[in-house]
Amino acid sequence: MAKKDAKQYVCQNCGSVYPKWQGKCDACGEWNTIVEEQVGGEGFSNLNSRRSKGKIIDFVPLSGSQQKVERLSTGIRELDRVCGGGLVPGSVILVGGDPGIGKSTLLLQACAKIASLPDRPEVYYISGEEAIDQVRIRAKRLQLEQAPVNLASSTDIRDIVATLEKSNAAVVIIDSIQTMYLDEVESTPGSVTQVRACSYELIKLAKRKGFTLFLVGHVTKQGAIAGPRVLEHMVDTVLYFEGERGHHFRILRAVKNRYGATDEIGVFEMQDQGLVEVENPSALFLAERQGNISGSCVFAGIEGSRPLLVEIQALVSPTGYASPRRAVVGWDGNRMSMILAVLEARCGLNLSSQDVYLNIAGGLRITEPAADLAVAMAVISSLTNKPLPADMVIFGEIGLSGEIRAVSQPSLRLKEASKLGFASALTPPTHSKEKKVNVEINRFEIGNVQRLINWFN
Ligand code: TYD
Ligand code: MG
Repeated sequence: MAKKDAKQYVCQNCGSVYPKWQGKCDACGEWNTIVEEQVGGEGFSNLNSRRSKGKIIDFVPLSGSQQKVERLSTGIRELDRVCGGGLVPGSVILVGGDPGIGKSTLLLQACAKIASLPDRPEVYYISGEEAIDQVRIRAKRLQLEQAPVNLASSTDIRDIVATLEKSNAAVVIIDSIQTMYLDEVESTPGSVTQVRACSYELIKLAKRKGFTLFLVGHVTKQGAIAGPRVLEHMVDTVLYFEGERGHHFRILRAVKNRYGATDEIGVFEMQDQGLVEVENPSALFLAERQGNISGSCVFAGIEGSRPLLVEIQALVSPTGYASPRRAVVGWDGNRMSMILAVLEARCGLNLSSQDVYLNIAGGLRITEPAADLAVAMAVISSLTNKPLPADMVIFGEIGLSGEIRAVSQPSLRLKEASKLGFASALTPPTHSKEKKVNVEINRFEIGNVQRLINWFN
């Protein structure tokens, strides 16, 4: 056992613990993130540890009856889908995102909808960041002030746990976990030890009482939920709410889900009366597109279980610097460098004297390698200053030897494109195992990047 007043040094970025202070965290490589904290409590507090001796546990076979999980619908379909089809009682959902992106708005809207369900589930919204009046002003703006939500402003976990213990809560929202504190832990609120300790107490209570717990967490500049990566392991579901400040689209993305698929997304639009669900994201992301412009093409992507068409824009211009600039918004910069290198080596394009800028329109961030071919086509189109056909979609992965590889679910991509009125598609060769689909789309199959340039003659 550690001494009562012993100290430890904890990295606020990744949660690694050191016996002595040091400038750089060996585990995550960050500088100046290590902070002195008191041992004791350590999140796994002694509130309930009365037993000293272990009890024999029962082992059971893998087969057997399971309880069917009854999911609670939030009334917001995009949120339900990202959670795997509704909220599971006793589950814990961490919602991360930049400040001001709309986490509080989304959760206030969700809890108002749940509280207004016919059987009136008890919903508790506990804000540690905003005063009651501020939340009320937001509720009024969202026209939700009549919803029977139980609102409180508190940061003391001991009070919160004592209160919820006596309640019959179905859903509890803690906004945000970084403002909460447990008095027996001596670190400041927001430190790894505090966040871990507070979450641990709340999660334990949620599992015991069977309510769904939403924890709001802020995200650091690097994209990790501030401080506690450890928190991601403690919860059942991690959702990131993301979007560009200047755009009104917001994407809710599941990065971990014990009760559903990850990489599922929900699309919202931030309007004057709060977040509005987007039924047809492809149409929305293509709404501002202007056809017949060089450097632009449409990528037929898949996000989670859903096809999504987005415009990819590239701008290639002669550089004024010794080393040309490469800037990417919404895609992986290393991936783009790779595509440019393949185009140089296999197609003989000269890009080393050109600046290349790439943008995914609408503020969306895509992670699929299936976008390679679309990126390559946008770059070549801008370089040659020749537009691609406006009614064409593109998808395919590019390998280092210049081959164009098959990607997952081509039929779903083609179907979505056809639904939105696209007449042709540039795709990898049909895979032998691929299911034939009946879509009215003119499919051009291409096996190697060497032939890409022919499209622009
Ligand atoms: P908020 O939910 O407070 O963000 P977070 O909790 O993630 O920090 O969102 C605040 C932003 O959303 C703020 O910039 C104003 C904007 N907003 C709207 O555009 N419309 C609305 O109806 C509301 C409530 C907020
Ligand atoms: Mg907030």
